[in-house]
Amino acid sequence: MSNLDITYISQILTGYKSMKGALIPVLQEVQNHYTYIPEPAVDLIAEALNISPSEIYGVLTFYTQFYTQPEGKYTIKLCRGTACHVKGSKSILEAIERKLGIRVGETTKDDLFTLRIVACLGACAVAPVMMVNGDYYGELTLEKIEGIFDELQAKECKSAKT
Ligand code: FES
Repeated sequence: MSNLDITYISQILTGYKSMKGALIPVLQEVQNHYTYIPEPAVDLIAEALNISPSEIYGVLTFYTQFYTQPEGKYTIKLCRGTACHVKGSKSILEAIERKLGIRVGETTKDDLFTLRIVACLGACAVAPVMMVNGDYYGELTLEKIEGIFDELQAKECKSAKT
């Protein structure tokens, strides 16, 4: 992202300069603001906290809570917790991947959908479950998946034309 406004990153870093154990809270703040960790942020953080960029990338790879790509307009959080697994969330995941042409952690080329998996959405009674932005979808089936994404894509097509 070439037109990234880094002012916010610099502001965050002033509060943490050379502070021990600051990396995770800094990354969380940066992600809260930008929805992901932009590449230029890594160099700025490395310099301010006096650690190497490769160390930061190591942390980003280790913790699944951090994202290095911008989110799509819709973030899909598919539950892969036990109850959902038992009710077939693996085949739901494969159906979403096929339907959108992306894998977990990726965003569609049109920047519409980002696919994530989560441990439990707290709605085990209606497993398998996913959340799309703030909305819950329960008792998912392969047919329901088709319908949900057809509807969202149609809605986006319609709003693009108006
Ligand atoms: S395991 Fe999926 S909502 Fe709890």
